[in-house]
Amino acid sequence: MVKGVVLAGGTGSRLDPLTRITNKHLLPIYDRPMIEYAIEALVGAGVEEIMIVTGGTHAGEFLRLLGNGHAYGCDRLLYAYQERPGGIAEALGLAEHFVEQGRCVVMLADNVFERSLRPAVEHFRGQEYGGRILLAREDDREHLRHLGVPELDADGRLVRIIEKPEEPPSDYAVTGVYFYDGAVWDVLPSLAPSGRGELEITDVNNWYVERSAMQYDVVEGFWGDAGESIDAYYAVNDFVRRNGANR
Ligand code: DAU
Repeated sequence: MVKGVVLAGGTGSRLDPLTRITNKHLLPIYDRPMIEYAIEALVGAGVEEIMIVTGGTHAGEFLRLLGNGHAYGCDRLLYAYQERPGGIAEALGLAEHFVEQGRCVVMLADNVFERSLRPAVEHFRGQEYGGRILLAREDDREHLRHLGVPELDADGRLVRIIEKPEEPPSDYAVTGVYFYDGAVWDVLPSLAPSGRGELEITDVNNWYVERSAMQYDVVEGFWGDAGESIDAYYAVNDFVRRNGANR
């Protein structure tokens, strides 16, 4: 069983002042609050037990919007509260008991995909051990400097992932969907805070890469991180309004 963890905490500072009065993941993407796309993406891929991790002063609004999740096709929808924005890997740690130290798919709630995540989930289900990430082709090198970027060898194998590189080592971005086996629960407590004082998901991913235990898929179709900047937020809105998402 693969359980889903949707991360919707953080400060949303890059969308300030929009995020002063609400949580970033409750802002609209076309006709729905942002978080609905992540829930839909997981449920559409067959992941029906989900925990949402959020924080801050608007956490209660998620319950008001999503309730028990049944209207969205969730079998079970649970919530966890992150006391301070200590990083994506810290937020994931709050889901340990929900996942029962097993396998999970983690999705950042500001990520929107045009196509279904089902093929990637199926590939992970067929994997005996290790992790899996989704890469998206990105030709704009300035954009890559704001993301995680993989270095690949001549055979296309992962060498390492560099978070927000000055010199992007490839034309791929690491998107905000991560698959982990049970080993992740031993990796998380071993992490040290990065320069920005957060427990970084890229350190978790590199733990798997170093052990040749990280695989990847390249996403087809559009991928956007609506939390990256106001312009990215509107680019995702424009795309979804014209083309929809999770198809
Ligand atoms: O969107 C893809 C990118 O997401 C990757 O390419 C990067 O490798 C990865 O580090 C991440 O980068 P960001 O700079 O976009 O991460 P950000 O701090 O914006 O956090 C992304 C989401 O994670 C955010 O929408 C909510 C959640 N989050 C974040 C933090 C820092 C939490 O739930 N708790 C937190 O403490």
